[in-house]
Amino acid sequence: MGKFKRNLITTALPYANGPVHIGHLAGVYVPADIYVRYLRQKGEDVVFIGGSDEHGVPITIKAQKEGVTPQDIVDRYHKLIKESFEEFGISFDIYSRTSSKTHHDLSSAFFKKLYDEGKFIEKTTMQFYDEKAGQFLADRYIVGKCPFCGNEHAYGDQCEACGTSLNATDLINPVSAITGNKPELRETKHWYLPLDQYEDWLKKWILEEHKEWKPNVYGQCKSWLDNGLQPRAVTRDLNWGVPVPLEGAEGKVLYVWFDAPIGYISATKDLTPDWEKYWKDPETRMIHFIGKDNIVFHCIIFPAMLKAEGSYILPDNVPANEFLNLEGDKISTSRNWAVWLHEYLRDFEGKQDVLRYVLTANAPETKDNDFTWKDFQARNNNELVAIYGNFINRTLVLTHKYFGGIVPERGELTDYDREVLAEIPAIVGRVEKQLEGFHFRDALKECMGLARLGNKYLADTEPWKVIKTDEARVKTILHVCLQIAADLSTLTEPFLPFSAAKLVGFLNIEPVAWAKMGDGVLPAGHVLNEAGLLFEKIDDEQIQKQIDRLLATKKANEIANAKVAPAKSNVTFEEFAKMDIRAGRIVAAEKVAKTKKLMKLTVDTGIDTRTVVSGIAEYYTPEEVVGQQVSILVNLEPKQLKGIESQGMILMAENADGSLAFVRPDKDIKPGSEIK
Ligand code: 2FM
Ligand code: ZN
Repeated sequence: MGKFKRNLITTALPYANGPVHIGHLAGVYVPADIYVRYLRQKGEDVVFIGGSDEHGVPITIKAQKEGVTPQDIVDRYHKLIKESFEEFGISFDIYSRTSSKTHHDLSSAFFKKLYDEGKFIEKTTMQFYDEKAGQFLADRYIVGKCPFCGNEHAYGDQCEACGTSLNATDLINPVSAITGNKPELRETKHWYLPLDQYEDWLKKWILEEHKEWKPNVYGQCKSWLDNGLQPRAVTRDLNWGVPVPLEGAEGKVLYVWFDAPIGYISATKDLTPDWEKYWKDPETRMIHFIGKDNIVFHCIIFPAMLKAEGSYILPDNVPANEFLNLEGDKISTSRNWAVWLHEYLRDFEGKQDVLRYVLTANAPETKDNDFTWKDFQARNNNELVAIYGNFINRTLVLTHKYFGGIVPERGELTDYDREVLAEIPAIVGRVEKQLEGFHFRDALKECMGLARLGNKYLADTEPWKVIKTDEARVKTILHVCLQIAADLSTLTEPFLPFSAAKLVGFLNIEPVAWAKMGDGVLPAGHVLNEAGLLFEKIDDEQIQKQIDRLLATKKANEIANAKVAPAKSNVTFEEFAKMDIRAGRIVAAEKVAKTKKLMKLTVDTGIDTRTVVSGIAEYYTPEEVVGQQVSILVNLEPKQLKGIESQGMILMAENADGSLAFVRPDKDIKPGSEIK
């Protein structure tokens, strides 16, 4: 820890407008939790802060869509998110929320202090105002035509069709998303933090004094600083948030990105009366765990706010992660392209650690990474089960079998035994080094190295063979294995807390202190508990179910997003009336040989019984269509298809994904009846 006496670890406050998914866990909460658990193991003074970000425009839009209040929305999701974190063992000291009174009071006072000290600049600008709704419109509340791609439904901040960032005033024919009215431009006053005034200080603080920050974080900061900083508005015209505590500022709130990071302070205040010690004493080391989209707010804007306020410490490090994708696509709440934590737990009950493991082993630390269900299965089966679980299981089963579950006496150690035992402190040292550098993937790899070592030791020493000739030697081997098992329960605890607790239970011990790893803490004669399995195989069927769910989502998205075919030009009634469409019934059906799509149908048209070849074979089987009513165009010119004369056409509706469905009367209709 060096110059620091205590640690303040914060995690980005997720917006309380949806559940949390694997991307959140992988990017922020699992690495932060690993780090905090490690610090606690080392006996450090640490507070671990989390909470929900409950302000901002998307929450008000969601509330409006559902016809409920923003408070209803945040109450619902705050509860769900908090529960998900608890279930995954994210060991916050407090999980707070920004709609709390403490937070409103503190962020309001923070703003007021900066205002009173003249740290803001005031600016009047023109903003869209919806007369009918009686309010200024946030950019998201304005829709219109994108000037770049012509999309008619672009938002005032972005066109989602072409991805361009927009200003609301760029939109062609902007209308209010609330009332559909044409908004007018009106003057409005806001307060700005003049970031440009902090530029030189930020350059020195980050670019010179924090060269140790992760390259992705340092690089992003450098690029912002090289481009020059501009004053940033810290207030908005909105009726949901922390009211601006100034006279004449009715209808204005603090910008969500102004109040949210102050949420870290208010959460600490709710946690302990000693909160100022954590926030104001330079001997506190503050670390923000965040995703890459939050870098500018935590490395530039919030530090500038803290600097302007003057009494708070600054972060020592901001180990931001990149993004986790899912099966090759960006995780997206609106497209439901995600693995939601509460749903995972429903399908993989008790397997929190498997997800923690996979997300750490595959963490997006240096670049975006991909989560796939096949990789999830492989890592569980080939690593957790086959290496770690297998070592523990063999050690415990053999101890129960040969020595009645009692830790055997250790005899004379061989050179090999000594070499293996000496590896323990070396591995612990490497895990510490990786954790202290925020390299969680590598730290986990090192931990698994100890399980691997145990497995190899068992395979090399073969106690199941030696038992026939030399029981004393087997006692020593299992004694060594049990020490490794006990150390593994401590070493893996930050990563796999549920399994570590299980292992401690199997071993019937108090958790081994971090500093005691390698000391051989399990005494001979100690009685173990009955053992179970630490990890279980995940079968193909479970994985296929998840893959199928994603495929169904993808298909639903494709259908929802597919463009509808453009309208055709008008026809006269006479032209339409030329078509002779009848109700018919399929009396026989067979697939046309050597084709994928074609089916030969025999149809009773009421006029006659005839043959029609139809391209439905990918969507229906002959058995299911026989007896079905259909609509048939009977006066279409006959046509040869694969050597069969097709006399007419069955009317089908084609879905956006190309799949076909019959167009047929919704009551039983006599064949031959006209359709018009
Ligand atoms: O990006 C987000 O999800 C934000 N709600 C993070 C806020 S972090 C902090 F400032 F509170
Ligand atoms: Zn566009």
